[in-house]
Amino acid sequence: MTSRLAPRLLASASQLLSCSNIRPVPLIRHQYRNRYQSTVSTPDSYKINGLTYPKDTYSNIPSSILDKLDRNLHLLPSHPISILRQIVEDHFASYTPLVPSSAVVSVHQNFDELGFPPDHPGRSLTDSYYINNEYMLRTHTSAHEVESYKKGLDKWLLSADVYRRDEIDSSHYPVFHQMEGTHIWQNDDLHTLPALNAELEERLKECNILIEDETTISPSNPYQPHHDPIHAEQITKHLKHSLNSLIFRLFGHHASKAGAEPLRVRWIEAYFPFTTPSYEVEVYWNGQWLELLGCGVVMQKTLDLSGVSNKSGWAFGLGLERLSMVLFSIPDIRLFWTSDPRFSTQFKQGEISTFQPYSKYPPCYKDMSFWLPTSVDTSAKEHGAAAAGGKLPPGGPGGEGRKKTFHENDYCEIVRDVAGDLIESVTLIDEFTHPKTNRKSKCYRLNYRHMDRNLSNEEVNELQEQVQKRVVQEMGIEMR
Ligand code: DAH
Repeated sequence: MTSRLAPRLLASASQLLSCSNIRPVPLIRHQYRNRYQSTVSTPDSYKINGLTYPKDTYSNIPSSILDKLDRNLHLLPSHPISILRQIVEDHFASYTPLVPSSAVVSVHQNFDELGFPPDHPGRSLTDSYYINNEYMLRTHTSAHEVESYKKGLDKWLLSADVYRRDEIDSSHYPVFHQMEGTHIWQNDDLHTLPALNAELEERLKECNILIEDETTISPSNPYQPHHDPIHAEQITKHLKHSLNSLIFRLFGHHASKAGAEPLRVRWIEAYFPFTTPSYEVEVYWNGQWLELLGCGVVMQKTLDLSGVSNKSGWAFGLGLERLSMVLFSIPDIRLFWTSDPRFSTQFKQGEISTFQPYSKYPPCYKDMSFWLPTSVDTSAKEHGAAAAGGKLPPGGPGGEGRKKTFHENDYCEIVRDVAGDLIESVTLIDEFTHPKTNRKSKCYRLNYRHMDRNLSNEEVNELQEQVQKRVVQEMGIEMR
């Protein structure tokens, strides 16, 4: 990234950067509550957690998202997201549980420190929420790896809300929750790994689990050049055994019954800029392979940067919503955010139970057809390069050029900003190019539904009009 604005912080910048953003949490659940102070957005700045950040051309966080910073679903004791967090924490009982004190991280922490290339699409303004060109809402819990290693902790589990601009439907929401876990060792202690692994293998033998793992170490997924391959192999084994046993803890209930089919777990080679070798892990559940987590052997560069070059080990990142949806049979990701007691009273700390659906209020849909601005660039990738410090559209990412670029995430963002959680889905139902003028047209169906009451047609018309006005103004599109 080039030319960064110095943040005008109420607390000093050094306090924000050096004093830890993370603290170990005592396991007293009510102390989790109300950690965030309220969040305020003015035309010139965001005020988050007592710090004021000036806005610039990168600033793209709507108030509907800022409101979510105070919710902390992962810390509400009997919320499904939190129940799973607690089960994972119980499983890795000797790991220190961590909760970051703010969702704001530097772009450096979120991407640069972890080796994300400057043109990585995740850096795009259409994919991520920026406070300004220096700070953002974390897009993953890995953003806290370096500061956690710096604390000298060798085994920790960090849970947090993460933010990604996304489409709207029953399985996508721009805020979700992740858990990051890691285990590192002093290099002098790596000789203890074969014994630790033998113990884990013994325990796994007692589980009715079928592990499908055809991964190999190869030039596309290699050990790190500075690692002794014998050590790297032992770390990788420890990673695999530890996660296989966590997955059995979460999904092994049926497989543990007499005569049941084994739980199937599949390891797949993957790529992450901050691990190698890297893997994704899937579980076979209800007739489908479900992707659960990403993991790998921590890049030595990350540990060097954290001041612990004498250590090595592994890390994983787990998405809690996806896991909760399948384990609790929750059909719609938006239910996690409802305040309807018919949802919140269903669940008990420490228990995975099946969600009992309650009657939904009727939906109301409205279609919106429009012409895209002429000669636009609809490529998310080019947008990504711009956000990453490459060529920006004229006027910067928030300037004129951006207004004329149609991207579905921008459209959804405006819809969500106007309608909040009343919007159930935004679906592209038609698109065509005019044969003579070459102009492109799109038609989206906006499906509105209130989780807790009936919506009137007038109310929905009003929302639809507001959406129309804003997309015309902000995206340069023309209604048909
Ligand atoms: N941060 C990654 C994501 O959000 C997940 C992940 C992959 C975390 C590999 C890790 C890891 O710690 O080692 O997609």
